[in-house]
Amino acid sequence: MKYVLALDQGTTSSRAIVFDQAGLPVASAQREFRQIFPQPGWVEHDAREIWATQHAVALEAMEAAGQGKADPASFTAIGITNQRETTVLWDRATGQPVANAIVWQDRRTAPRCDQLRQQGHAALIQKKTGLVIDAYFSGTKLEWLLDHVEGARARAERGELAFGTIDSWLVWNLTGGRVHVTDASNASRTLLFNLHTQDWDEELLALLRIPRGVLPKVVPSSGVVGETEVFLLGVSLPIAGMAGDQQAATFGQACFAPGMAKNTYGTGCFMLMNTGAAPVASRNKLLTTVGWQGPAGRNRTAYCLEGSVFMAGATVQWLRDGLQVIQNAPEVESLAAQVDDTGDVYLVPAFAGLGTPDWDGYARGTLVGMTRGTTRAHIARAALEAIALQVADVFGAMSRDARIPLRELRVDGGASRNNLLMQLQADFLGVPVVRPQVTETTALGAAYLAGLATGFWPDAEVISRQWQVDRRFEPRLGEAERAAKLARWRQAVERAKGWATP
Ligand code: G3P
Repeated sequence: MKYVLALDQGTTSSRAIVFDQAGLPVASAQREFRQIFPQPGWVEHDAREIWATQHAVALEAMEAAGQGKADPASFTAIGITNQRETTVLWDRATGQPVANAIVWQDRRTAPRCDQLRQQGHAALIQKKTGLVIDAYFSGTKLEWLLDHVEGARARAERGELAFGTIDSWLVWNLTGGRVHVTDASNASRTLLFNLHTQDWDEELLALLRIPRGVLPKVVPSSGVVGETEVFLLGVSLPIAGMAGDQQAATFGQACFAPGMAKNTYGTGCFMLMNTGAAPVASRNKLLTTVGWQGPAGRNRTAYCLEGSVFMAGATVQWLRDGLQVIQNAPEVESLAAQVDDTGDVYLVPAFAGLGTPDWDGYARGTLVGMTRGTTRAHIARAALEAIALQVADVFGAMSRDARIPLRELRVDGGASRNNLLMQLQADFLGVPVVRPQVTETTALGAAYLAGLATGFWPDAEVISRQWQVDRRFEPRLGEAERAAKLARWRQAVERAKGWATP
């Protein structure tokens, strides 16, 4: 018994990583799947493709860990982590989705969110859920599906349909439709979950007209929720860890003490700071969210404050696929390094609106300051700067909310391997950026949550010891220069706001 299998179902790809007891990745597999854009501002996934790619990479990674021949008996447990908020509605009898999943980036319910805000529900929602009213979260997406898919509402009321975020959907499929659950960290992203009672909230369900019968049971993030069907992976494995990807990364970064924070560079960028055993309300437009719950027996809930940036790696993906100025994502670093600065060009990647701290569902991507001398290198550099500048805005809000100064930031995710980006990040934050040796902390966090529940790892202290620094990036900008840069960036952000009309 040597390994834990982590399934990391992200926005643009499904990944599986096998971890050993030292917390090191020994094998992995990854597959991208289709991004569906039916209308401007809409983003969908085919949930069947999500399951098919996730199942395939799980098998591939198990095989790779056994040097070409899977040895299912060497696996002890599965941990699941996932893109959060993305909303799936499926038929309980057939297991088929009734429509494409509505992805967290989808803005179609922005007008409904305006309405909820105008009706004065913002304070109640923030108090109960820790969230702001925004199309980002699952609640209005689920309401939209119930209202727009023919017959869905009536079927949901008859108990025929199941709702879930991607964690739920994967567990449902892995258990052959026997288990319908979600963990508290994912539940806390729906607009329907009350942080204080740790349960679905009747008042919010009524407000968004959600029949309780569609909802999954909420379970701890660390604990066995079911066993996988033997025919799927060649073995019946306990599914013992579940958490939203950003919370899992916070766990994988060993941010166990209040005040510790991490930032993950994935499709978006998400900074989470552990605030301890009680939810802390933000005064600076951050979200209050469940970090994780469990493990069983030590069933405490850890809460976090979160800042959400919608476009990070996705901005680089857009340079590759949309603008076609690079062939592959890593190339952005060398292209951006061809110039010393952006020549006062700013790219505001509000392609999916703006999250923290602006929360503007109508903001759109904006490129300002170009002259005849502007080249693709300037634009590539502006794209990298934009990632780091958005994070700097979140860090500012986080610092104002935190009672203790944030002295460094732990980073992870694919783009944290980009040294230029990390240096820019330290420069714009004014504090060191610390990259651990294992940057796959999202999957690692899911593995840890699962392995703690099954005794593969004894306790959090072991996990803290396994966390090791790869590199520290020290800030190089003077305070005045840094402030001027952030101020110029805010000017650009103002130009992106409110562009799309409801
Ligand atoms: O809230 C959305 C987030 O969970 C997406 O994560 O890793 O796909 O950027 P990622």
